[in-house]
Amino acid sequence: MQSRSGRLTVFAAGVAAMVAAASAAADGIPYRQVADMLYQVMSADREVYTKMVIQRLMVDDEVITASEHFEDDIALPLPAQMFRFGAERVADETEDFSYALLSLQPINKKNGPGTGLEKEGLEFVVDNEGENFYGEEELGEQRYFTAVYPDYAVSEACIRCHNEHKDSPRTDIKVGDVMGGVVIRFPVD
Ligand code: HEC
Repeated sequence: MQSRSGRLTVFAAGVAAMVAAASAAADGIPYRQVADMLYQVMSADREVYTKMVIQRLMVDDEVITASEHFEDDIALPLPAQMFRFGAERVADETEDFSYALLSLQPINKKNGPGTGLEKEGLEFVVDNEGENFYGEEELGEQRYFTAVYPDYAVSEACIRCHNEHKDSPRTDIKVGDVMGGVVIRFPVD
C-alpha cells in the first residue's frame, strides 16, 4: 500500500458517466482522485439498482425475481451482472481503465482475486472498516495503479440472496458487512 502522486491523462469517451468522469479527469488529477470519482458513480448506480429495482420488485412487492439466468427465467439481472455488463462495455471502448467486482469468498469462482495485489486489497477493505486500498502492481510488462473499495451489503436483498445461494461459501452475511470489493485499475507509465 502506498500513496500515489502520479498524474493521469485519460482521453476516454463514450460509455455513460464513468467514461465521462475519466475524461473530465484529464491532465493533472492524481490517479487516486480519479479512481475515487469513478467509484462514486459505480457505487451510486449499484446501490440505486439494488434498492430501487431489486429490493422493491423482488423483496418488497414480490413482483419479479432476480436470477443469474435472467433471460431463460424472464427475471431481472443480478446487481453483479449489471455491474459486469457495464465493465464489459467500458472494456470494449477504452484501455485507459478497467474495473471489476470481486470477493475473497465469491459465489462465482471467477470473481475471486486474480492478482496478489487484488487479494491484498480485498483483505485490507475487510480488515479496515471504511478505508479504501491503493497500490501499484506490474502485470506482464505493464505497471498499474490499482484501487480497491469495499462493497457493502446495502440492503436486505443482498444478504438474502447471497446467504441462500447454493454456491455461496457464506451464509452469515448481515446488512452493512463488506461482501467484496470494487477493483479499479489504470495503466501507468
Ligand atoms: C438475487 C440474488 C443476488 C442479489 C440480490 C445480490 N447478489 Fe451479489 N451475486 C449473486 C450471484 C449469483 C453472484 C455471482 C454472479 C456472477 O458473477 O455471475 C453475485 C456476485 C456478487 C459479488 C462478486 C463475488 C461473488 O460472490 O461472486 C459481490 C461482491 C456481490 N455479489 C455483492 C452483492 C451485494 C453487495 C449485493 C446488494 C447490493 C448483492 N450482491 C445482491 C447474487 C445476488
